[in-house]
Amino acid sequence: MDDTTFAHGLPKAELHLHIEGTLEPELMFTLATRNGVNLPFATVDDVRAAYEFTDLQSFLDIYYQGAAVLITEQDFYDLASEYYTRAADAGVRHVEMFFDPQTHTERGVAFETVLDGLTRAGADAQEQLGISNGLIMCFLRHLDAAAAMATLEQALPHRDRILGVGLDSSEVGNPPELFADVYARARDAGFLAVAHAGEEGPPAYIWGALDALGAQRIEHGVRCLEDPALVARLAAERIPLTVCPISNVRLRVVDTMADHMLPAMLEAGLMVSINSDDPAYFGGYIGDNYAAAAGIGLSRHTLAEIARNSFRSSFLTDDEKNRLIAEVDAFVAGT
Ligand code: HPA
Ligand code: ZN
Repeated sequence: MDDTTFAHGLPKAELHLHIEGTLEPELMFTLATRNGVNLPFATVDDVRAAYEFTDLQSFLDIYYQGAAVLITEQDFYDLASEYYTRAADAGVRHVEMFFDPQTHTERGVAFETVLDGLTRAGADAQEQLGISNGLIMCFLRHLDAAAAMATLEQALPHRDRILGVGLDSSEVGNPPELFADVYARARDAGFLAVAHAGEEGPPAYIWGALDALGAQRIEHGVRCLEDPALVARLAAERIPLTVCPISNVRLRVVDTMADHMLPAMLEAGLMVSINSDDPAYFGGYIGDNYAAAAGIGLSRHTLAEIARNSFRSSFLTDDEKNRLIAEVDAFVAGT
């Protein structure tokens, strides 16, 4: 078995995946036709050619534009079903999936339409593919705290279908502290809490996500390495960091994969997992991200440990974690 086959076959959890970021150009055209939405692109190749990013914002602009084709419950179902099928092929056994309600409610799509489609696809993924899954709704940090609070209000009647809350979109200039009250309310209502921090933003935003928001897991977090006291805390408390190597290269957080801080983060004893973020836009699903890590020299032993970390970092019960970690052990033993 070569490294790529190993990377794709390893049983793993995906914890940093924006469902809107799995919209492949082919499905974008199908949905645009189905819904009578005009796209500013003539062909699938034109869409892919537009995916050249200089930073997070240059990506977000085109990502929010693409989401405009998502209108009906069936659209969200189809989007998520395509993702789960690909995930199953990449060894994914458990998904904690982000969605951005405000991207849709701002366009007049009902919160329930989004949630119903994603929930139905999740139930089918569990039943047909054996992939356990949950939803985490993210607040868009380029919008204000009042808008986030209004979104939380919409979610409260559906508490049983949403695992937790997250924070995404334009990071720099939108520190976590702005959303402290929203997170406090969400945690009181029983939602788990995670947040993007330290992707483009400084280490102070990671401290803020932990202390002001009560985040139990950090998305990206790669800039923690600039602050030794923060690294010490993250390691001591085993706070999970969901790292997305191909995303970081495509959004120019690092210049090349060889410059990626994944080896340094592991060396520092951090609880790191590998994830795909927005695979349709960055040209790589989770198996490709594991393969990219192999490509910069991470051993199979290390990749398997990262796969175990992905389950340890999840919100599964200890019994479920142990069962899935045993699947990693069995896979490694069989190679
Ligand atoms: N960072 C911030 N917002 C996002 C991302 C990301 O990596 N992906 C989708 N929305
Ligand atoms: Zn992300």
